[in-house]
Amino acid sequence: MNITYQERNRIFKLDTAHTSYCIGIVDKENFVGHIYYGRKLTEDNLAYLMRTEEPPYVPSENNRDRTSFLDTFPMEYTGSDLGDYREGTLEVRTTSGHTGVSLSYLSHRIYDGKEKLCGLPATFGQDPECKTLELTCEDKILHLQVILSYSIFADSDAIARSVKIINNAKEPIYLTKVLTACIDMDNDDYEMITLHGSWARERAIQTRPVTLGKQSVSSVRGESSHQEHPFMAWKKSTTTEESGDIYAMNFVYSGNFLAQIEMNQFSSIRAMMGIHPHDFCWKLGAGESFQAPEVICVYSSEGIGGMTRCFHDLYRNHLIRGEYKDKKRPILINNWEATYFDFNTEKLLNIAGQASKLGIEMLVMDDGWFGHRNDDNTSLGDWQVNEEKIGGGLKYLVDEVNKLGMKFGIWFEPEMISPDSDLYQKHPDWAIAIPGRMGSLARNQYVLDLTRQEVRDYVYEMFAAILRSANIEYVKWDMNRQLSDPGSYGLPADRQGELFHRQVLAVYELQDRMTREFPHLLLENCSGGGARFDAGMLYYSPQIWCSDDTDAIERLSIQAGTAMIYPLSTMGAHVSDCPNHTVGRVTPFETRGYVALAGTFGYELDVTKISEEDRNLIPKQVAMYHQYNDLIRSGDYYRIAHYADNHYYDCYEVVAKDKSEALVTYIQILNRPNYHSRRIHIPGLDPKRTYEIVNAEDWPEMKQTEYKGDTLHYAGINIPPLWGDFKGRLMHLKAI
Ligand code: DGJ
Repeated sequence: MNITYQERNRIFKLDTAHTSYCIGIVDKENFVGHIYYGRKLTEDNLAYLMRTEEPPYVPSENNRDRTSFLDTFPMEYTGSDLGDYREGTLEVRTTSGHTGVSLSYLSHRIYDGKEKLCGLPATFGQDPECKTLELTCEDKILHLQVILSYSIFADSDAIARSVKIINNAKEPIYLTKVLTACIDMDNDDYEMITLHGSWARERAIQTRPVTLGKQSVSSVRGESSHQEHPFMAWKKSTTTEESGDIYAMNFVYSGNFLAQIEMNQFSSIRAMMGIHPHDFCWKLGAGESFQAPEVICVYSSEGIGGMTRCFHDLYRNHLIRGEYKDKKRPILINNWEATYFDFNTEKLLNIAGQASKLGIEMLVMDDGWFGHRNDDNTSLGDWQVNEEKIGGGLKYLVDEVNKLGMKFGIWFEPEMISPDSDLYQKHPDWAIAIPGRMGSLARNQYVLDLTRQEVRDYVYEMFAAILRSANIEYVKWDMNRQLSDPGSYGLPADRQGELFHRQVLAVYELQDRMTREFPHLLLENCSGGGARFDAGMLYYSPQIWCSDDTDAIERLSIQAGTAMIYPLSTMGAHVSDCPNHTVGRVTPFETRGYVALAGTFGYELDVTKISEEDRNLIPKQVAMYHQYNDLIRSGDYYRIAHYADNHYYDCYEVVAKDKSEALVTYIQILNRPNYHSRRIHIPGLDPKRTYEIVNAEDWPEMKQTEYKGDTLHYAGINIPPLWGDFKGRLMHLKAI
């Protein structure tokens, strides 16, 4: 890992273990250009690749065609409105109402380590595991400085980029668009991979060709969203799961975003990512700075899987924090699908009593324990325990659960306010709304205006008081509606455009405060299922609820899309009852367990009501969790087959970092009549070592139980047809 600057050629080069990223400065005007991103190069001087010798030349040699230069030059980060007609990354409006920004190199700094991003989640790394390049650019006319930061890590091929804007003028300037990352390169028959969905079907993988014009994913919903995800990759059409070039960007942010690839008239592409400019306008006072969130850029020559494993390692080692970062999480049972709002102390203790006997380690009390909330129409904001339901009080309940040898966790939705609440009666102006316009309800609730300090303090004190009142060891932080009606009674007219971003900063501030005051707490973020499953939230919580859809088959798809970027250790996954509450499907209890094992693992059912047959399987599943979770949390993840592509089966694998063992999960979706066995190739193993199927008793059809690593990868293994639909099996391989 190294960052170098060649003064003579004015070239910066960032080298990670397997990649190089190259930036150059050209012309008397010091334009900052992008030269190369890809496989690691031994050559340091790539100045010859800078597009300056081709017509229309640099402006100092051909100012007559200045706009042609600006419109074709591969920019490292762009201004706007001065002749580059491709979509830009930075747009401003001055107090006189004018636009136009042009950036040129001013200075740079290369240092060991990585500085924190003020108020924002970001990857971290200390000297000597990390190095940073800061390129300071300026617009002399506007007295605006733009600092582009690039951090690289000794143990990762990712590059973390961020941008800081400083207003050195004597008057304010309005930032109307600040994206974080931009990569200009030639098209190479690229395809774009993005993630799409809705409530209960988050992050389905979509691949489409990159074509002329713009293709994008975005959210203007105030959160990263169920619908589209702050991630995009672009790969050659020949790139497969295991080989070929792929580039990706992922946003470490939880609000509005734009991720876009534009192909221009010369078949160059511009990939960019950052805060969505819709409804964004930040007034930057004289001397003030604005910090844009971080984008993680990844290049891999080892296909989609190589990209995935790069993200997983980076996030496990340099983003996720806290006590549970590398620790097995307690197996929890959550009462949401068990009782919905209809519970009381007795019911919860019955569930906990039975669960503790089966090896479950924590009871989580979900929505409905406060105010007079017996359905989703009331009481958000009134965070007082409803003692009619929680007879004896919260401390009594928690103590009783603790006496069973279990931990206790609780649900909150701190960002919300119900119109039917004491809080709303007292402070109707605390809800986000446009004055004079009736706010739009969703799930019969409004969003609290957390841009106001007094609202943040109130909310914090309310939930902190609950957390201080008993031995609460886990919090599920939920958010069940998206933002609309962007109006704050607390912000002046010329700052209303700051609301969406300030709201996200406020959530970060609250979670930061909470994790500082309660450092031993296990925090699980959630948003109507998985609408805020993003890298920003992972900085505060080591796990996030993946989806409200707990059906094992739907989950295969949701978890495959999520795990394309995020480590398995982060995916909240539970075994629930059947017929499944979202799709009505009936799947074997064993299969539900195998699928949930790929995440944090837990239960979401009334353990006192399920069949004895299912209940008797729980201790076996608990034992499997304890046996495999270290491997699942820390190993390398490989997608082998996805039923969304083949319609019949799903298969994935986790291989230990030292390749001493692997766990293959195989789920047959539909049985086929008169069909032979299926050949599965098992990658990632040590080709020279011999592996034994440890759980051979689960695979009576296998003719042998020992195989060479390369044989399992290249020749594969035949998986027999399983009798029935939705049947699954695990294969545990150990090197001998
Ligand atoms: C949405 C979550 O995803 C569910 O698990 C549950 O907590 C409900 N909200 C409660 O309102």
